[in-house]
Amino acid sequence: MSNNDRVIIFDTTLRDGEQSPGASMTGEEKLRIAKALERLKVDVIEAGFAIASPGDFAAVKAVADNIKDSTVCSLARAVDADIERASEALAGANSGRIHTFIATSPIHMQYKLRMQPDQVIEQAVRAVTKARNLCADVEFSCEDAGRSEIDFLCRIIEAAIDAGARTINIPDTVGYAIPHQYADMIRQLLERIPNADKAVFSVHCHNDLGLAVANSLAAVVAGARQVECTINGLGERAGNAALEEVVMAIKTRQDLLKVHTRIETEHILSASRLVSGITGFPVQPNKAIVGANAFAHESGIHQDGVLKHRETYEIMSAQSVGWNANKMVMGKHSGRAAFRSRLEELGIVLLAEGELNAAFARFKELADKKHEIFDEDLQSLVSDALAEDVQEHFKLVALDVASKTGQVPDAKLVLSVDGQEQPASGQGSGPVDATFKAIESVANSGATLQLYSVNAITKGTDSQGEVTVRLEKGGRIVNGNGADTDIVVASAKAYLNALNLMKIGAKAHPQVSGV
Ligand code: KIV
Ligand code: ZN
Repeated sequence: MSNNDRVIIFDTTLRDGEQSPGASMTGEEKLRIAKALERLKVDVIEAGFAIASPGDFAAVKAVADNIKDSTVCSLARAVDADIERASEALAGANSGRIHTFIATSPIHMQYKLRMQPDQVIEQAVRAVTKARNLCADVEFSCEDAGRSEIDFLCRIIEAAIDAGARTINIPDTVGYAIPHQYADMIRQLLERIPNADKAVFSVHCHNDLGLAVANSLAAVVAGARQVECTINGLGERAGNAALEEVVMAIKTRQDLLKVHTRIETEHILSASRLVSGITGFPVQPNKAIVGANAFAHESGIHQDGVLKHRETYEIMSAQSVGWNANKMVMGKHSGRAAFRSRLEELGIVLLAEGELNAAFARFKELADKKHEIFDEDLQSLVSDALAEDVQEHFKLVALDVASKTGQVPDAKLVLSVDGQEQPASGQGSGPVDATFKAIESVANSGATLQLYSVNAITKGTDSQGEVTVRLEKGGRIVNGNGADTDIVVASAKAYLNALNLMKIGAKAHPQVSGV
């Protein structure tokens, strides 16, 4: 296949993905995800929106300084301050890209920007020129292109390419497009814009109508050669096109699509689990490619067929996306070197020696309770060990829960608050409710519980439960995570992790208004 048949995979999990309410990530978590994306061989990693907050700037900079095999990109509105900040954050990148955007639909130009179309073109050209003076690789996006007029798109894109944009992105910002219509739009742009051959055309589809992947693929057939997507389809509102679905559709239907990507698909599942664990957004069991049931055959007829000849009911192999790598890997006699090497094989790159030590101590504790330690356990205990790295204002010291048929569940616990132990107790409708009430009797956080979810990490009743707790206070949302073989303990850890994050202001989701 020639270069023209290659689709560039642009992952925006760390930027658009983070715009999912409650999906905010700390800088350290973003770096871990970026490493997993680099291992997947994602071409471009959009690491964030450098001007949005000091935390966002630091995260983009950390990703730019540490990632060598993928281009690192920062988003910037079409204004000087944003572009300069993006350029500063990307200074250490091996290969950096500034992604600047302005809205082009009549409704956005009139009500949001309050600008005339000619002024929008002028501002876009100024922004692209400025970005090109700071960075050789510039992407220009026409926000809400899906609802923009084609004649206007032709004018602004031609001007942006002349000003030096090398990638032109046509986002379906509000998820309004339908595959054949979106493909037609891409085709027309490629045919009508005289300098279209000087840029790569890109698509960025939102999933409001459940069509993000279908629209992206239709656009590829029409000539787009970059797809913007996210792991697990994370993203603003209903999310973005799911990377794993786009990539596997391209790989599985090469006969029809006649394009390829450079993604190493066997790392897809571990990346999906990492993102799900960090954001606390569970993957639904019937989710394509990475859902627990994606390769499970229930009906006897299907099972019989697959046993006789796998392709009777399977269009791709589970191994090709990383399933079945889930063998028992470690036990209580495994040493530190084996532990480190297995983490490296899983793409879990620990950032400091202290973090490896903390994770190894947790591994030993877990191995005492559960003699089969699976890859999922390792991923979770690393997340848990790193969650403990968050400055711990509140820490669980001891928990004693009584839950009997016909009696009100009762929790007694000891919390360490800035190093001082404090007892607490609470009653509730169940053991978890009682535990949270006991914690709140000490914390008095004033936060509202928005989500509580428990997920069994592996099969079997000795599995660890992975708990996510989402708290909201004054418009700020944080997700706390905790894992343990005892789900009440996991729940307490997740609740305390959320309170600690709230306390230090981590994971606060920055909102930046339009230009
Ligand atoms: O959805 C959108 O339009 C975006 C742009 C900033 C690319 O996320
Ligand atoms: Zn978007």
